[in-house]
Amino acid sequence: MIKDLQQKIIDLKKRNGVCILAHSYMSEEICEIADFTGDSYALSVKAKTAPQGTIIMCGVRFMAETVKMLSPEKRVILANPDAGCPMAEQFDIETVEEVKKLYPDYAVVAYVNTTAELKTVSDVCVTSSSAVKICRAVPEKNILFIPDINLGTYVKSQVPEKNFKLLSGGCPVHAKIEKSDAESAKRAHPSALFLVHPECRPEVVALADYVGSTSGIMEFAEKSDKKEFIIGTENSIVQHLQFKCPDKKFYPLSKDLLCHNMKITTLADVLNCLTGTAGEEITMDAELISKAVKCINKMIEYGG
Ligand code: 13P
Ligand code: SF4
Repeated sequence: MIKDLQQKIIDLKKRNGVCILAHSYMSEEICEIADFTGDSYALSVKAKTAPQGTIIMCGVRFMAETVKMLSPEKRVILANPDAGCPMAEQFDIETVEEVKKLYPDYAVVAYVNTTAELKTVSDVCVTSSSAVKICRAVPEKNILFIPDINLGTYVKSQVPEKNFKLLSGGCPVHAKIEKSDAESAKRAHPSALFLVHPECRPEVVALADYVGSTSGIMEFAEKSDKKEFIIGTENSIVQHLQFKCPDKKFYPLSKDLLCHNMKITTLADVLNCLTGTAGEEITMDAELISKAVKCINKMIEYGG
């Protein structure tokens, strides 16, 4: 049944010249029919070079927007229009403008998990994998980091030569994990390495053997000589790694590490996008794109 659905999707996407992108938090069955899987930034770069004129994004809204900004000539469809990222939508532009007035000599560094509107008032964008490198590279000594306080705290610890102001936003999924959850996972699996996404709280990150993005965590686990790993990010990564490395063991940091927004997209949504009966085409006016894409281009310029 799943295989039949997957085959229909594969036939239709080939026939209609459609490229399917799946963030690594998607289920295995969606990753299997995708042209590319990866972290949010890697996907938007892939979309740019893909020969197809239509992109279906299986992920959340800010990811589809980023794809559209980098490939404005393509049709970009968000597979399930209800898939938002609560962190990306936490602060409105007015709030950030008010904070900017308090710190006029601070460069605004925005996590890519932000709306296109917030990107228009930001100087440079970062991903979880590039945040440390970019904050070191920007010429400004003072950085206003938005919106994730946990990622901001991690970056601040790695870039002590700069002054940071942080907003108090964050990912509700990663931020609800407590130090006690990490301690009990480590107690249960004493031989396992602990790999953590920097959206987790600082006291959880402090216990990690490795801190990195979703792709970073997967790469680390695949290349490591070690055999057991506790995965401190969305639980689909546990399943993907288990498929990729059957000789290793992967344990979730917590059974609560589930992003409902990422889980809302189904194979049926993807099929319905291909038949034109579901999904939402991302439309952004040219002025919004040209203002918002600047901070993404700056990130690329700094080697993000
Ligand atoms: P990555 O950029 O590491 O894929 O993370 C996106 C995200 O939403 C993490 O919660
Ligand atoms: Fe947003 Fe967190 Fe879900 Fe990532 S895991 S998409 S940051 S809510």
